[in-house]
Amino acid sequence: MKPTSITDTLTLPCGAVLKNRIGKSAMSENMGSRGYTSNEKFNRLYARWAEGGIGLLITGNVMVDRFALGEAHNVVIEQGIQDANLPHWAAAGKKDGTHIWVQLNHPGKQSPKFLSKEPVAPSAIPLKKPLDRLFNTPRALTEDEILEIIARFAYAARVCKESGFTGVQIHGAHGYLVSQFLSPSHNQRTDRWGGTLENRMRFVKKVYLAIRKEVGASFPVSIKLNSADFQKGGFTQEDSREVIKQLSALGMDLIEISGGTYEAPAMMGAAQKESTQQREAYFLTYCEEVRKLVQSPLMLTGGFRSAQGMNAALESGACDVIGIARSLAIQPDFPNQLLSGSAVTSQVKPLTTGWKFLDKTFPLEIIWYTDQLHFMGEGKNPKPKKSALGSVLSMVYKLGKNAVKKVR
Ligand SMILES: Cc1cc2nc3c(=O)[nH]c(=O)nc-3n(C[C@H](O)[C@H](O)[C@H](O)COP(=O)(O)O)c2cc1C
Repeated sequence: MKPTSITDTLTLPCGAVLKNRIGKSAMSENMGSRGYTSNEKFNRLYARWAEGGIGLLITGNVMVDRFALGEAHNVVIEQGIQDANLPHWAAAGKKDGTHIWVQLNHPGKQSPKFLSKEPVAPSAIPLKKPLDRLFNTPRALTEDEILEIIARFAYAARVCKESGFTGVQIHGAHGYLVSQFLSPSHNQRTDRWGGTLENRMRFVKKVYLAIRKEVGASFPVSIKLNSADFQKGGFTQEDSREVIKQLSALGMDLIEISGGTYEAPAMMGAAQKESTQQREAYFLTYCEEVRKLVQSPLMLTGGFRSAQGMNAALESGACDVIGIARSLAIQPDFPNQLLSGSAVTSQVKPLTTGWKFLDKTFPLEIIWYTDQLHFMGEGKNPKPKKSALGSVLSMVYKLGKNAVKKVR
């Protein structure tokens, strides 16, 4: 059998076919309109990416509750919000047979102070220092509230399908609500939602099953999951393997592997060993282990920068889809170039403002790459030469303005 390469198609368990093995991993656009709706900027951005030749586009996280936002300008899908632009966004991302899936999320305690006075979480445990300065201590969810959030995920998935999106993804990674339920350090409940791993994974299983019931067997449902939280006493690789086994048995169409949380941002390559850097992908070793356990298609995200690195991961059989994020914010045509066999590499480089204090205080990667998405949303080209300091200053200016005006 010929080894798999980025140009191959992939048939998912639900029967849907991806036209190649390159997937855009979620990047929050933070450019929704007042009223939590999407707009023409999303259509331009996703049309640009679809023209770039990619097989699968996963949107930035879309929230399921307007009172639980991760960022000020998130799009929200919930009852009572009519977003007339959703079908246009979906159509833009479907150009040339590209798949476009919506990433659905609830931030739990990772909703900043200026957006949530009292965020909710499995248990009333604050984020660690120094993040406790930016995020309020959460309140523990009640049983009824947990059931309501599960129903919200299912409702949002149905709206996505009806709007023409071709799949959905549950955000189960990076320390948001699903990941908080999975983590023994964040979830210290003593009821059926906490304690044993079986109880901690009840929430994500119920979210998946509720979504599946709404969208049917032939609609792709995916999850982004952490290999681990990289926190003492947190969600371990052993836990993660068991969750993957069970979600795979339930029929998950694509399991995307990432890792880390706001407290330990491993998803962005923080503190990777040199041996990992040589293999490009941050979570490749873990993905190789998972491959031995499950048949479900696996997408591996974080660190891929060249066709060589991508094809090596596919050829080894470790994963089935290559997830890319930051490169696509500055090189929207990267997939076409990779697929054509040209020796292109990613232009992603470490960012610095030149001021240690600013580099430590601000999530530079998020701020600078979000700026690049906004350029494309406005119909412009990305500006890879823009300075990180410039992005920080414009963000501080916008935040200041919003503090005066109130965000929405
Ligand atoms: C601006 C920005 C926004 C992001 N937003 C999300 C998000 O909404 N959901 C998510 O799962 N990951 C998000 N990520 C993480 C990426 O999906 C990805 O896991 C990470 O950037 C590593 O991949 P890369 O090395 O190809 O950039 C975001 C990353 C960036 C740079």
